[in-house]
Amino acid sequence: MKALVLAGGSGTRLRPLSYSTPKQLVPIANRPVLEHVLANLRALGITEVGVVVDAASTRIQEALGDGSRLGLRVTAIPQVSPLGLAHCVAISRAFLGDDDFVMYLGDNVLPDGIGGHAERFAATRPDAQVVVRKVADPRAFGVAEFRPDGTLERLVEKPARPRSDLALIGVYFFTAAVHRAVAAIEPSARGELEITDAIQWLIDHGGAVDAVEHTGYWRDVGQVEDVLECNRRLLEDLVPAVHGHIDSATELRGPVVIEAGARVVRTRIEGPALIGAGTVVEDCHIGPGTSIGRGCAVRGSRVRDSVVMDDVSIAGPTDLRDSVIGHGATISLPPSAGPCSLVVGAATRIEPAA
Ligand code: DAU
Repeated sequence: MKALVLAGGSGTRLRPLSYSTPKQLVPIANRPVLEHVLANLRALGITEVGVVVDAASTRIQEALGDGSRLGLRVTAIPQVSPLGLAHCVAISRAFLGDDDFVMYLGDNVLPDGIGGHAERFAATRPDAQVVVRKVADPRAFGVAEFRPDGTLERLVEKPARPRSDLALIGVYFFTAAVHRAVAAIEPSARGELEITDAIQWLIDHGGAVDAVEHTGYWRDVGQVEDVLECNRRLLEDLVPAVHGHIDSATELRGPVVIEAGARVVRTRIEGPALIGAGTVVEDCHIGPGTSIGRGCAVRGSRVRDSVVMDDVSIAGPTDLRDSVIGHGATISLPPSAGPCSLVVGAATRIEPAA
Protein backbone atom coordinates (compact mmCIF):
# COMPACT_ATOMS: atom_id res chain seq x y z
CA MET A 1 0.00 0.00 0.00
CA LYS A 2 1.14 3.54 -0.78
CA ALA A 3 0.27 6.73 1.06
CA LEU A 4 -0.83 10.10 -0.26
CA VAL A 5 -0.40 12.94 2.21
CA LEU A 6 -2.09 16.25 1.43
CA ALA A 7 0.04 19.18 2.51
CA GLY A 8 -0.93 21.89 0.02
CA GLY A 9 -3.75 24.38 0.54
CA SER A 10 -3.54 27.86 1.94
CA GLY A 11 -4.30 27.46 5.68
CA THR A 12 -6.36 30.65 5.72
CA ARG A 13 -7.85 29.94 9.16
CA LEU A 14 -4.35 29.85 10.67
CA ARG A 15 -3.30 33.30 9.48
CA PRO A 16 -1.07 35.11 10.25
CA LEU A 17 0.97 32.02 11.21
CA SER A 18 0.36 30.28 7.89
CA TYR A 19 1.86 33.24 5.98
CA SER A 20 5.24 32.09 7.29
CA THR A 21 4.68 28.48 8.40
CA PRO A 22 2.49 26.08 6.40
CA LYS A 23 -0.01 24.63 8.87
CA GLN A 24 1.35 21.13 8.28
CA LEU A 25 4.71 22.32 9.68
CA VAL A 26 3.34 23.91 12.85
CA PRO A 27 5.04 22.08 15.74
CA ILE A 28 2.92 20.03 18.09
CA ALA A 29 5.03 18.95 21.09
CA ASN A 30 8.01 20.33 19.12
CA ARG A 31 7.46 18.11 16.06
CA PRO A 32 5.79 19.36 12.87
CA VAL A 33 2.25 17.99 12.39
CA LEU A 34 3.50 16.35 9.20
CA GLU A 35 6.09 14.32 11.12
CA HIS A 36 3.35 12.93 13.36
CA VAL A 37 1.45 11.99 10.18
CA LEU A 38 4.47 10.33 8.57
CA ALA A 39 5.32 8.43 11.76
CA ASN A 40 1.81 6.92 11.73
CA LEU A 41 2.28 5.87 8.10
CA ARG A 42 5.70 4.40 8.79
CA ALA A 43 4.16 2.42 11.66
CA LEU A 44 1.90 0.71 9.10
CA GLY A 45 5.00 -0.50 7.23
CA ILE A 46 4.39 1.96 4.37
CA THR A 47 7.53 3.34 2.72
CA GLU A 48 6.25 4.99 -0.51
CA VAL A 49 4.66 8.34 0.29
CA GLY A 50 3.48 10.98 -2.17
CA VAL A 51 3.10 14.41 -0.59
CA VAL A 52 0.93 16.99 -2.36
CA VAL A 53 2.51 20.41 -1.83
CA ASP A 54 1.74 23.97 -2.86
CA ALA A 55 3.65 24.41 -6.12
CA ALA A 56 4.57 27.98 -5.12
CA SER A 57 6.43 26.98 -1.96
CA THR A 58 9.40 24.74 -1.24
CA ARG A 59 8.91 24.78 2.56
CA ILE A 60 7.44 21.30 2.88
CA GLN A 61 10.05 19.72 0.59
CA GLU A 62 12.82 21.44 2.55
CA ALA A 63 11.41 20.03 5.79
CA LEU A 64 10.97 16.48 4.52
CA GLY A 65 13.80 16.10 2.03
CA ASP A 66 13.62 12.70 0.37
CA GLY A 67 12.09 11.22 3.54
CA SER A 68 15.05 8.94 4.33
CA ARG A 69 15.46 10.56 7.77
CA LEU A 70 12.00 9.18 8.57
CA GLY A 71 12.57 5.81 6.88
CA LEU A 72 10.39 6.76 3.90
CA ARG A 73 10.70 7.50 0.19
CA VAL A 74 8.90 10.80 -0.26
CA THR A 75 7.78 12.03 -3.68
CA ALA A 76 6.62 15.65 -3.79
CA ILE A 77 3.59 16.25 -6.02
CA PRO A 78 3.19 19.98 -6.72
CA GLN A 79 -0.35 21.38 -6.89
CA VAL A 80 -0.67 24.71 -8.68
CA SER A 81 -3.80 25.74 -6.79
CA PRO A 82 -5.84 24.14 -3.94
CA LEU A 83 -8.57 22.74 -6.16
CA GLY A 84 -9.80 20.10 -3.73
CA LEU A 85 -8.97 16.79 -2.11
CA ALA A 86 -10.13 14.78 -5.15
CA HIS A 87 -7.99 17.04 -7.35
CA CYS A 88 -5.03 15.91 -5.24
CA VAL A 89 -5.85 12.28 -6.12
CA ALA A 90 -6.17 13.20 -9.81
CA ILE A 91 -2.75 14.89 -10.00
CA SER A 92 -1.16 11.96 -8.12
CA ARG A 93 -2.35 9.32 -10.61
CA ALA A 94 1.14 8.59 -11.97
CA PHE A 95 2.59 8.19 -8.46
CA LEU A 96 -0.29 5.99 -7.25
CA GLY A 97 -0.54 3.73 -10.31
CA ASP A 98 -3.16 1.04 -9.60
CA ASP A 99 -2.02 0.46 -6.01
CA ASP A 100 -4.22 0.59 -2.94
CA PHE A 101 -3.47 3.71 -0.93
CA VAL A 102 -4.28 5.57 2.23
CA MET A 103 -4.94 9.28 1.78
CA TYR A 104 -4.05 11.22 4.93
CA LEU A 105 -4.72 14.93 5.37
CA GLY A 106 -1.48 16.57 6.47
CA ASP A 107 -3.18 18.67 9.16
CA ASN A 108 -4.77 15.75 11.04
CA VAL A 109 -3.32 14.52 14.32
CA LEU A 110 -4.14 11.01 15.58
CA PRO A 111 -1.78 10.16 18.45
CA ASP A 112 -3.04 6.56 18.70
CA GLY A 113 -2.22 5.87 15.04
CA ILE A 114 -4.41 4.28 12.36
CA GLY A 115 -3.21 0.67 12.60
CA GLY A 116 -6.62 -0.88 13.33
CA HIS A 117 -8.28 0.95 10.43
CA ALA A 118 -5.50 -0.11 8.01
CA GLU A 119 -5.79 -3.76 9.09
CA ARG A 120 -9.52 -3.73 8.52
CA PHE A 121 -9.06 -2.23 5.03
CA ALA A 122 -6.39 -4.79 4.11
CA ALA A 123 -8.67 -7.61 5.25
CA THR A 124 -11.86 -6.42 3.51
CA ARG A 125 -10.61 -4.27 0.59
CA PRO A 126 -13.76 -2.27 -0.20
CA ASP A 127 -13.41 0.33 -2.99
CA ALA A 128 -13.23 2.97 -0.27
CA GLN A 129 -13.08 2.97 3.51
CA VAL A 130 -13.69 6.20 5.37
CA VAL A 131 -13.05 6.86 9.04
CA VAL A 132 -15.62 8.75 11.09
CA ARG A 133 -15.71 10.18 14.57
CA LYS A 134 -18.48 11.61 16.72
CA VAL A 135 -18.06 15.37 17.10
CA ALA A 136 -20.01 18.02 18.98
CA ASP A 137 -20.38 20.35 15.97
CA PRO A 138 -20.17 18.55 12.61
CA ARG A 139 -20.77 21.66 10.49
CA ALA A 140 -17.05 22.22 9.89
CA PHE A 141 -16.52 18.72 8.49
CA GLY A 142 -17.63 16.19 5.93
CA VAL A 143 -20.55 14.34 7.55
CA ALA A 144 -21.50 10.67 7.08
CA GLU A 145 -25.17 9.63 7.05
CA PHE A 146 -26.09 5.97 7.55
CA ARG A 147 -29.08 3.83 6.57
CA PRO A 148 -31.03 2.08 9.34
CA ASP A 149 -29.07 -1.13 8.57
CA GLY A 150 -25.82 0.70 9.38
CA THR A 151 -24.52 0.97 5.80
CA LEU A 152 -23.21 4.30 4.51
CA GLU A 153 -25.82 6.25 2.56
CA ARG A 154 -24.54 9.75 2.02
CA LEU A 155 -21.54 12.00 2.59
CA VAL A 156 -22.18 15.73 2.82
CA GLU A 157 -19.37 18.29 2.91
CA LYS A 158 -19.80 20.88 5.68
CA PRO A 159 -23.61 20.79 5.88
CA ALA A 160 -25.37 23.80 7.45
CA ARG A 161 -27.83 21.34 9.08
CA PRO A 162 -26.00 18.07 9.71
CA ARG A 163 -28.18 14.95 9.87
CA SER A 164 -25.60 12.98 11.85
CA ASP A 165 -22.87 13.73 14.38
CA LEU A 166 -20.31 11.53 12.61
CA ALA A 167 -17.60 13.62 10.95
CA LEU A 168 -15.18 12.31 8.35
CA ILE A 169 -11.71 12.42 9.73
CA GLY A 170 -8.85 13.00 7.34
CA VAL A 171 -7.89 9.38 6.69
CA TYR A 172 -9.31 7.53 3.69
CA PHE A 173 -8.41 4.13 2.26
CA PHE A 174 -8.89 3.45 -1.45
CA THR A 175 -8.37 0.85 -4.11
CA ALA A 176 -7.76 1.98 -7.71
CA ALA A 177 -11.58 2.09 -8.12
CA VAL A 178 -11.48 5.66 -6.80
CA HIS A 179 -9.79 6.97 -9.95
CA ARG A 180 -12.89 6.38 -12.10
CA ALA A 181 -14.98 8.24 -9.51
CA VAL A 182 -12.55 11.17 -9.36
CA ALA A 183 -12.62 11.42 -13.17
CA ALA A 184 -16.44 11.41 -13.18
CA ILE A 185 -17.20 14.22 -10.71
CA GLU A 186 -17.51 17.98 -11.31
CA PRO A 187 -16.26 20.82 -9.07
CA SER A 188 -18.60 21.66 -6.18
CA ALA A 189 -20.30 25.01 -5.54
CA ARG A 190 -17.09 26.20 -3.79
CA GLY A 191 -15.10 25.28 -6.92
CA GLU A 192 -13.31 22.23 -5.49
CA LEU A 193 -13.21 18.62 -6.61
CA GLU A 194 -14.51 17.11 -3.36
CA ILE A 195 -13.37 13.67 -2.22
CA THR A 196 -16.79 13.32 -0.56
CA ASP A 197 -18.39 13.63 -4.05
CA ALA A 198 -16.04 10.98 -5.45
CA ILE A 199 -16.91 8.59 -2.61
CA GLN A 200 -20.61 9.41 -3.08
CA TRP A 201 -20.19 8.53 -6.77
CA LEU A 202 -18.86 5.13 -5.72
CA ILE A 203 -21.84 4.60 -3.37
CA ASP A 204 -24.31 5.66 -6.08
CA HIS A 205 -22.69 3.37 -8.67
CA GLY A 206 -22.82 0.21 -6.58
CA GLY A 207 -19.27 0.43 -5.22
CA ALA A 208 -18.36 -1.02 -1.85
CA VAL A 209 -17.81 1.81 0.63
CA ASP A 210 -17.24 1.13 4.32
CA ALA A 211 -17.05 3.43 7.31
CA VAL A 212 -15.15 2.65 10.50
CA GLU A 213 -15.42 4.63 13.69
CA HIS A 214 -12.40 6.17 15.37
CA THR A 215 -12.86 6.43 19.10
CA GLY A 216 -9.42 7.76 20.04
CA TYR A 217 -8.21 11.35 20.03
CA TRP A 218 -8.37 13.23 16.74
CA ARG A 219 -7.93 16.86 15.83
CA ASP A 220 -7.29 18.76 12.62
CA VAL A 221 -5.12 21.75 13.36
CA GLY A 222 -7.12 24.17 11.21
CA GLN A 223 -7.30 26.91 13.83
CA VAL A 224 -5.16 28.34 16.64
CA GLU A 225 -7.36 26.77 19.36
CA ASP A 226 -6.83 23.37 17.70
CA VAL A 227 -3.04 23.84 17.72
CA LEU A 228 -3.05 24.70 21.44
CA GLU A 229 -5.46 21.94 22.42
CA CYS A 230 -3.61 19.34 20.38
CA ASN A 231 -0.26 20.46 21.81
CA ARG A 232 -1.62 20.08 25.35
CA ARG A 233 -2.92 16.61 24.54
CA LEU A 234 0.35 15.37 23.01
CA LEU A 235 2.42 16.83 25.82
CA GLU A 236 0.43 14.68 28.24
CA ASP A 237 1.95 11.58 26.60
CA LEU A 238 5.52 12.72 27.32
CA VAL A 239 7.69 10.54 29.48
CA PRO A 240 9.33 12.97 31.93
CA ALA A 241 13.06 13.31 31.27
CA VAL A 242 15.80 15.81 31.97
CA HIS A 243 18.56 15.64 29.34
CA GLY A 244 19.60 19.26 29.72
CA HIS A 245 20.83 21.16 32.77
CA ILE A 246 18.61 22.45 35.58
CA ASP A 247 19.95 24.38 38.56
CA SER A 248 19.05 23.72 42.19
CA ALA A 249 16.67 26.72 42.32
CA THR A 250 14.53 25.26 39.54
CA GLU A 251 11.35 23.36 40.39
CA LEU A 252 9.76 20.82 38.03
CA ARG A 253 6.21 19.61 38.62
CA GLY A 254 4.32 16.98 36.62
CA PRO A 255 5.50 15.59 33.26
CA VAL A 256 8.32 17.82 32.05
CA VAL A 257 10.88 17.11 29.33
CA ILE A 258 14.07 19.15 29.13
CA GLU A 259 15.89 18.28 25.91
CA ALA A 260 19.64 17.94 25.55
CA GLY A 261 21.64 21.15 25.73
CA ALA A 262 18.77 23.14 27.29
CA ARG A 263 19.63 25.16 30.41
CA VAL A 264 16.99 26.04 33.00
CA VAL A 265 17.81 28.44 35.86
CA ARG A 266 15.70 29.69 38.82
CA THR A 267 12.52 28.62 37.06
CA ARG A 268 9.27 26.89 37.93
CA ILE A 269 7.97 24.49 35.26
CA GLU A 270 4.52 22.93 35.56
CA GLY A 271 3.99 19.94 33.30
CA PRO A 272 2.98 18.93 30.87
CA ALA A 273 5.73 21.04 29.37
CA LEU A 274 8.62 20.61 26.96
CA ILE A 275 11.78 22.69 26.70
CA GLY A 276 13.59 22.21 23.38
CA ALA A 277 17.26 21.44 22.80
CA GLY A 278 19.66 24.33 23.27
CA THR A 279 17.05 26.63 24.81
CA VAL A 280 17.86 28.85 27.79
CA VAL A 281 15.14 29.56 30.37
CA GLU A 282 15.95 31.88 33.29
CA ASP A 283 13.77 33.29 36.10
CA CYS A 284 10.54 32.10 34.48
CA HIS A 285 7.30 30.34 35.25
CA ILE A 286 6.51 27.95 32.36
CA GLY A 287 3.50 25.70 31.77
CA PRO A 288 1.32 23.83 32.02
CA GLY A 289 0.44 22.88 28.43
CA THR A 290 3.47 24.60 26.96
CA SER A 291 6.16 23.63 24.48
CA ILE A 292 9.17 25.85 23.95
CA GLY A 293 11.11 25.12 20.74
CA ARG A 294 14.82 24.67 20.16
CA GLY A 295 17.36 27.46 20.43
CA CYS A 296 15.05 29.85 22.28
CA ALA A 297 15.91 32.32 25.06
CA VAL A 298 13.17 32.98 27.63
CA ARG A 299 14.01 35.31 30.52
CA GLY A 300 11.91 36.69 33.36
CA SER A 301 8.63 35.65 31.74
CA ARG A 302 5.46 33.68 32.37
CA VAL A 303 4.34 31.37 29.54
CA ARG A 304 1.42 28.95 29.84
CA ASP A 305 -0.80 26.93 27.46
CA SER A 306 1.30 28.05 24.51
CA VAL A 307 3.36 26.87 21.55
CA VAL A 308 6.67 28.67 21.10
CA MET A 309 8.53 27.71 17.92
CA ASP A 310 12.32 27.51 17.46
CA ASP A 311 14.76 30.42 17.90
CA VAL A 312 12.27 32.66 19.68
CA SER A 313 13.39 35.24 22.23
CA ILE A 314 11.00 36.21 25.04
CA ALA A 315 12.03 38.72 27.66
CA GLY A 316 10.27 39.69 30.87
CA PRO A 317 7.98 40.76 32.24
CA THR A 318 6.12 39.22 29.31
CA ASP A 319 3.11 37.15 30.43
CA LEU A 320 1.80 34.89 27.67
CA ARG A 321 -1.06 32.43 27.66
CA ASP A 322 -2.94 30.65 24.84
CA SER A 323 -0.32 31.97 22.42
CA VAL A 324 1.43 30.64 19.34
CA ILE A 325 4.76 32.33 18.64
CA GLY A 326 6.35 31.81 15.19
CA HIS A 327 9.98 30.94 14.46
CA GLY A 328 12.58 33.53 15.32
CA ALA A 329 10.12 36.05 16.82
CA THR A 330 11.22 38.49 19.55
CA ILE A 331 8.69 39.36 22.24
CA SER A 332 9.26 41.75 25.10
CA LEU A 333 6.15 43.26 26.67
CA PRO A 334 6.06 46.01 29.28
CA PRO A 335 4.57 45.28 32.76
CA SER A 336 1.51 47.36 31.84
CA ALA A 337 0.61 44.82 29.12
CA GLY A 338 -0.49 42.23 31.72
CA PRO A 339 -1.37 38.69 30.54
CA CYS A 340 -1.55 38.52 26.73
CA SER A 341 -2.69 35.99 24.19
CA LEU A 342 -0.67 36.43 20.99
CA VAL A 343 -0.59 34.74 17.59
CA VAL A 344 2.65 35.90 16.05
CA GLY A 345 4.17 35.01 12.66
CA ALA A 346 7.82 34.16 12.08
CA ALA A 347 10.54 36.78 12.66
CA THR A 348 8.06 39.28 14.13
CA ARG A 349 9.34 41.78 16.73
CA ILE A 350 7.12 43.04 19.53
CA GLU A 351 9.16 45.31 21.78
CA PRO A 352 8.70 48.50 23.79
CA ALA A 353 10.04 51.64 22.10
CA ALA A 354 13.68 52.36 22.91
O1 DAU B 1 -10.03 17.25 8.79
C1 DAU B 1 -11.16 16.55 8.33
C2 DAU B 1 -11.89 17.32 7.23
O2 DAU B 1 -10.90 17.63 6.21
C3 DAU B 1 -13.04 16.47 6.64
O3 DAU B 1 -14.07 16.29 7.58
C4 DAU B 1 -13.62 17.15 5.40
O4 DAU B 1 -14.59 16.32 4.81
C5 DAU B 1 -12.50 17.42 4.39
O5 DAU B 1 -13.00 18.11 3.26
C6 DAU B 1 -11.40 18.26 5.03
O6 DAU B 1 -11.94 19.55 5.35
P1 DAU B 1 -11.03 20.83 5.62
O7 DAU B 1 -11.79 22.06 5.31
O8 DAU B 1 -10.45 20.72 6.99
O9 DAU B 1 -9.87 20.66 4.53
P2 DAU B 1 -8.61 21.59 4.29
O10 DAU B 1 -8.92 22.58 3.23
O11 DAU B 1 -8.10 22.07 5.60
O12 DAU B 1 -7.57 20.57 3.68
C7 DAU B 1 -7.16 19.41 4.35
C8 DAU B 1 -5.70 19.12 4.01
O13 DAU B 1 -5.52 18.93 2.61
C9 DAU B 1 -4.72 20.23 4.41
O14 DAU B 1 -3.49 19.64 4.84
C10 DAU B 1 -4.50 20.99 3.10
C11 DAU B 1 -4.60 19.89 2.07
N1 DAU B 1 -5.12 20.31 0.75
C12 DAU B 1 -6.39 20.83 0.69
C13 DAU B 1 -6.92 21.20 -0.53
C14 DAU B 1 -8.33 21.74 -0.63
C15 DAU B 1 -4.35 20.16 -0.37
O15 DAU B 1 -3.18 19.68 -0.30
N2 DAU B 1 -4.85 20.55 -1.57
C16 DAU B 1 -6.12 21.05 -1.71
O16 DAU B 1 -6.56 21.34 -2.85
